[in-house]
Amino acid sequence: MKNIVILISGGGSNMAAIVNAAQRECWQEKWGARVAAVISNKAQAQGLVFAARQGIATAVLEHQSFDSRQAFDAALSQLIDRYDEPGQPALVVLAGFMRILTPGFVNHYAGRLINIHPSLLPAFPGLHTHRRAIEAGCKLAGATVHQVTAEVDCGAILAQAAVPLLPGDSPETLAARVLTQEHLIYPQAIARLLEER
Ligand code: GAR
Repeated sequence: MKNIVILISGGGSNMAAIVNAAQRECWQEKWGARVAAVISNKAQAQGLVFAARQGIATAVLEHQSFDSRQAFDAALSQLIDRYDEPGQPALVVLAGFMRILTPGFVNHYAGRLINIHPSLLPAFPGLHTHRRAIEAGCKLAGATVHQVTAEVDCGAILAQAAVPLLPGDSPETLAARVLTQEHLIYPQAIARLLEER
């Protein structure tokens, strides 16, 4: 897994945390690993600007341009697979990529497709996690890095971090607290995967 391909849809702060960790921790020297490309399904995704400034290849593949989920995923696969090297399939990292992927896509990347989800899975899979945690009266919230399987937000858990849910929290204040932890655990989980292989 020499090449890391990161998929984003928006701000890309997790992607930036991974890129910064890769540089700071010398992933290239240690494991020959680098963030080779950042792909967004939205042309306006802010994260693309950061990635391009870092000299990372960027691409936009807008899902609206495709007739079906299958057609979009097939085109996305083609883009990603350019970064496979002989005997070294790329690691595919979903970082705020807000698309449900088809089982065919997920199976193609089995064992090398990971995601970060802003809840303590298996609690609150799906959307609006922070609002749901507040409404449920949770005392803790957090984030989970996991392997991606065909069932949404259900794959093996690789890392988790918990934060307190404080009185008066809004979904936004809670999201910001969780995000700071995401920026720590996502690069750490990827570094562990690279180390293991
Ligand atoms: C993050 O909080 C991530 O956990 C969440 O989107 C945000 C993206 O932020 N992902 C999901 O909700 C996936 N279902 P970022 O673009 O700044 O990394």
